[in-house]
Amino acid sequence: MKVDIYERIWMWGVAIMLAVFFASTAAAALGSQMHPPSHVETIDPRTALTDPRFRRQGVSVDARGRVHATVVGMMFTWLPNELVLPADTPVTFHLTSPDVIHGYQIVRTNGQAMVVPGYVSQFTTRFAAGDYLVACNEYCGVGHHIMASRLKVVPKSQWQAPAAEAAHVQ
Ligand code: CUA
Repeated sequence: MKVDIYERIWMWGVAIMLAVFFASTAAAALGSQMHPPSHVETIDPRTALTDPRFRRQGVSVDARGRVHATVVGMMFTWLPNELVLPADTPVTFHLTSPDVIHGYQIVRTNGQAMVVPGYVSQFTTRFAAGDYLVACNEYCGVGHHIMASRLKVVPKSQWQAPAAEAAHVQ
């Protein structure tokens, strides 16, 4: 079959573009550990604030020594407003919302998840020491632009671990 030279150029162009798109997705997933947050864990948004999983927001350490951050996003604040975390340590975030969809974005890191009422979003990441801004990146209402909080990541040796608890044994 004879394929015109221009046709052939376009075909190769498309094939190369598809290969680049696929490779960049694979590199982000495997190299930078960017994954869509799991949406398999559900919660009743009407009682999210009194649910045992979210009654106490903030940093906790489970019986196996793993660090968890429990955060509620609501119009128009993040609870708690500041988290103090250890550097170079995996931290698992658990997020939910009692009202509308918010977006938890730890600026300049790969930590990001949609926060959807009815679901618990979860991701695990680690940080270098420093201060990080958390922004809401999902339009949620008139106060969307003021919905921000902070992460303070301190060297592991200076970090004060809260008392271990069994809330997040999974
Ligand atoms: Cu919450 Cu935008």
